[in-house]
Parts: sequence; structure tokens; C-alpha cells
Amino acid sequence: MGIKKVGVLGCGLMGAGIVETAARAGFQVVVRDISDEFLSRGIGRIGKNLGRAVKKGRMSQDDMDAILARIEGTTELAPFASADLVIEAVMENLELKQGLWKELDGLCPAHTIFASNTSSLKIGIQAEVTDRKDRFVGLHFFNPVPVMKLVEVIRTDETSDATHEAAMAFSRDLGKDPITCIDSTGFVVNRLLIPYLLDAIRALEKGIASREDIDKGMILGCGHPMGPLSLLDFVGLDTTLYIAGIMSDEFGEPQYKAPELLKTMVAAGKLGRKSGEGFYSY
Ligand code: CAA
Repeated sequence: MGIKKVGVLGCGLMGAGIVETAARAGFQVVVRDISDEFLSRGIGRIGKNLGRAVKKGRMSQDDMDAILARIEGTTELAPFASADLVIEAVMENLELKQGLWKELDGLCPAHTIFASNTSSLKIGIQAEVTDRKDRFVGLHFFNPVPVMKLVEVIRTDETSDATHEAAMAFSRDLGKDPITCIDSTGFVVNRLLIPYLLDAIRALEKGIASREDIDKGMILGCGHPMGPLSLLDFVGLDTTLYIAGIMSDEFGEPQYKAPELLKTMVAAGKLGRKSGEGFYSY
């Protein structure tokens, strides 16, 4: 059965990005958040992004209106009963995610595929609370979702071939270029990215170079679009600390151990772009 309607749980940065990308690709989307305020903030951000594309002449006003018309905001779960695919992008809290999956498992038809956008929690542990472990995958998007081409498609031991294929096809329908990975903490990208980001902080702590030169080194020396300290500000220092904590608990290896500077900055409320200050000021 083809995917026509997509349900998205959470209209924060990642959720709104997924909603925008799916609606742009022609899918009907219902997005749920816990308050009207969170919903209108997320959908407002989508409107702004689309408005910028219209201004630049990359999209017509009619197309923008059609995309927005495909998006339904709700604070309820009931409209998810007609979704063919549900993607969760709520806070990284296992109990919260499991609670939602349990409720949706009773509400959604048998064919509905469940997908988590988690960056650090195991997919299998979320699937465990449902009776559709074979129809459960990870769909890990990257920030900013409308721009980044990658989706990590994570299959657990129980994800069926049909579900994996549907998740890969859906990602391609979004205009993404997916990769497949097993259900191992951090998947592919964060397994490599988190130690790299933490090492950049360690280099700064040791006075190896200025923040600007560390960033410039990786932009000009390795062709990265952003240096690691700018990327840390972009991803969020609290988010990075949280992911590093989970990976450190899981693997116990020193490369995942958070440097003191990261902990101090997060404790001081310096979270990067979202708080107006991180390694740089915004
Ligand atoms: N939302 C939507 N579109 C955005 C955007 C956003 N937040 N930020 C930028 N864009 C769009 C712009 O509108 C622009 O589009 P057009 O070409 O159509 O005009 C395009 O992206 C390029 O933007 P800019 O020219 O303003 O800026 P840039 O060329 O410097 O690109 C960037 C910005 C795409 C963010 C680039 O710097 C980049 O790729 N940075 C690295 C991002 C990255 O590594 N992300 C992964 C983080 S890790 C993660 O997400 C996973 C995890 O679990 C932690």
C-alpha cells in the first residue's frame, strides 16, 4: 500500500522540517504538537521558508498555497488514524515516545508504518511497546531538513524487508538520498560526527588554535560547509551533550566523553544559536 498521508509528531525544528519536506513532495501531512502555540510557531517557520522561495522566484505563490493547504495542524492524535506513515520528532525522552507509540498502535490501521527520527535512542526499544515491530523503522533526518540530502534509514532485527523498502522509497520521494544502517546508537553519522565535534572542543580547550582558525581549518582543509565549532552552535550544545552522554554510556569509550568546556557552557545556558550565544554570539 502506497504512502499518501504522513503523520508527524512534534512541530519543533526537526518536526517542522519534516512536515515542510513531505508537503513540498506532495504528501498530505498532519502534524501534532501539545499546544496551539508550538504548532503555529512551527507552521509559521514553514511559511517563512516557503515565502523566501517565492521571493527568490523559485516557487510560485500558487505552489506555496497548495503546499500549506496540504498541512493540517492538530493537538490531537485522532487524525493519525488515517496516516499511512507516522514519524515522531518529539523530545528525546523514551517514556514519552513509547507512550505515544502505544496509543497510536491502537489507533492506526495495520498497514501504517511507524518511524522515529531519534538521533540517539534505539529504535528497537521504541518498537517493543507496539504490535508492529516488523513495521517499525528509524528515519533520521538532518538539520536543516529541507536542505540536507541524507536520511538514515535504520532497520532493527525485526523490521521487515517491505517496511525497509517503503522507508527507502519514501525518502527518495522526498528528494533525499538515503542510507541503511543497523540499530546501533548514533547510527552512522553521529557515531563519526560526535567524537569529531568533541575533539574540536578539546582542541580549543588545549589552546591548539583560536575558534576561528579551528573552523577555518576544517572548512578550507577538508571542504566542510561549516567548521566544527559553528556546527556545534548550529546543532545545539545541549543536544550534543545529551547525545554524547548516551553514546558514552553505551560504548564507554573516551572519544564520546564530553569535555569540561562543553558541560560548563551548557550549565551557563550557552547553547549555541538557539540561546543567542555558544562558541560565537548571534
Ligand atoms: N531551513 C530551510 N532552508 C534553509 C535553512 C533552514 N534552517 N538554512 C539554510 N537554508 C537554505 C537557504 O534558504 C538556501 O536555499 P536556496 O539556495 O534555495 O536559497 C540554502 O539553504 C543555502 O543557505 P545559505 O546560502 O543561507 O547558507 P549556506 O550556503 O551557508 O548553507 C547550511 C547553510 C545548509 C546550513 C550549510 O552551512 C550546511 O550544510 N551546514 C552543515 C549542516 C550540517 O552538518 N547539518 C547536520 C547537523 S547534524 C544533525 O542534524 C543530526 C543530529 O542528530 C545531531
